[in-house]
Amino acid sequence: MNPKIPLKTPLPLYKSAPTVEPIQNARQIYIETYGCQMNVSDSELMAGILTRSGHEVVSQLEDANVILLNTCAIRENAETKVINRLKHLSYLKRKQPDLIVGVCGCMAQHLRKKLIEAAPYVDLVMGPDAYRNLPMAINAVTSADPFLGLKLDKDEDYADIAPIRKDGVRAWLTIQRGCDKMCTFCIVPFVRGRERSIPLSVLVDDVKRLVDEGFKEVVLLGQTVNSYHGEKHDFGELLFAVSEVQGIKRVRFTSPHPSDATDSMIEAMATCDKVCKQIHLPLQSGSTKVLKAMRRTYTAEEYRELVWKMRDRIPNLIVSTDVIVGFCGETEADFMETYNLMAEVRYDSAFMFKYSSREGTLAYKSLEDDVSEVEKIQRLQAIIELQGRISYEINQELIGDTVEVLVEGESRKDVAKYQGKTDGFKTAVFPKADSEIGQFVCVKVNKATSHTLIGEIVA
Ligand code: 5AD
Repeated sequence: MNPKIPLKTPLPLYKSAPTVEPIQNARQIYIETYGCQMNVSDSELMAGILTRSGHEVVSQLEDANVILLNTCAIRENAETKVINRLKHLSYLKRKQPDLIVGVCGCMAQHLRKKLIEAAPYVDLVMGPDAYRNLPMAINAVTSADPFLGLKLDKDEDYADIAPIRKDGVRAWLTIQRGCDKMCTFCIVPFVRGRERSIPLSVLVDDVKRLVDEGFKEVVLLGQTVNSYHGEKHDFGELLFAVSEVQGIKRVRFTSPHPSDATDSMIEAMATCDKVCKQIHLPLQSGSTKVLKAMRRTYTAEEYRELVWKMRDRIPNLIVSTDVIVGFCGETEADFMETYNLMAEVRYDSAFMFKYSSREGTLAYKSLEDDVSEVEKIQRLQAIIELQGRISYEINQELIGDTVEVLVEGESRKDVAKYQGKTDGFKTAVFPKADSEIGQFVCVKVNKATSHTLIGEIVA
């Protein structure tokens, strides 16, 4: 994750025009983002809220007198990383006593007061539904007590606030907040609250604004994005509506839940040219027994059928997934079902994790974290190795093909090259030739690794 967010021109800051009390003491605020795209999107929202109140959001930590960490709670290592970062920031605070350090987001909501015990020098602890109060909280910080903003609010959707995004070709647009699914392993419902959808008309206007700001691609974001139901419209209708916005070239979304993959969604994907033929469809486990313990609400067979149904309807669909190994009660045989399902589906790519028990979740309360760490690591390594091989083979088959790529920016490894994404969200790297960022180019694939297509622009 890139914690440095270079900022776009911060206007307009409102979708409507509310009145705002000017703040007394404008601060320079640096926001550092951890975790998923939803957090990146929330940091953009925080930047919008802070800027409209008269604070300045800066892109260098050295220029800041307020540092806000926007954190993740999904696995233990996400929290450990932030605790270590806070230790480092405590040194800075000793040198710069007026420095305000705040912890925002999921870890703030998860650990609550415990965070203050672990890091007593933290001045602010603000959960995902409290960002409207950030400007006030920053003003209210005293040396005596930290400011806590931890109330979850099922009505808070921030629909009226214009986020400030970094320049680019792709914008992430939150269409839904919270989650109602209650998977037993997952902390999200407890730290992000109940599911709420942003009205469809607001989102369509947002996409028009994104086009005006120069974005070519929009990624619709939600915890279970396809359970969207804004103003009685379902997710398929939203895909159609957003695709109709003039000037938007690509629409994609993340992450859908298999149980909410309706025909309306599949039809929109199949028939809207602008909707990318790509889906990130979290599997979590290939064992129906484990899926049941996870409360995923589908069987392995139903998941398998869904993938084949989508592949039938959407030729060349790119499919990726999330998998957890070592969940409570997962036997070697259960794990092998996951392994075999991955081998059968042949995902283009996968995010793979070992189970990390999270205090507050249903599994933490009622299931035993009984797979040993050694076993978890072995299982994880086995699927990483399998997936690496499959991704490599799939990408090798693309050698000689020409793929359409949206040019995103300079390659990290070679300044003479650009990189961008295909419709299927694969990264392509190629010599710049005369192309420009934001342009669609045809790239002939000459080489491929498991992660990247390497080629050259052809006419
Ligand atoms: N342990 C390990 N992985 C988890 N995920 C969510 N909760 C946990 C957990 N407790 C994974 C899931 C999810 C992804 C975002 O993170 O695979 O889809």
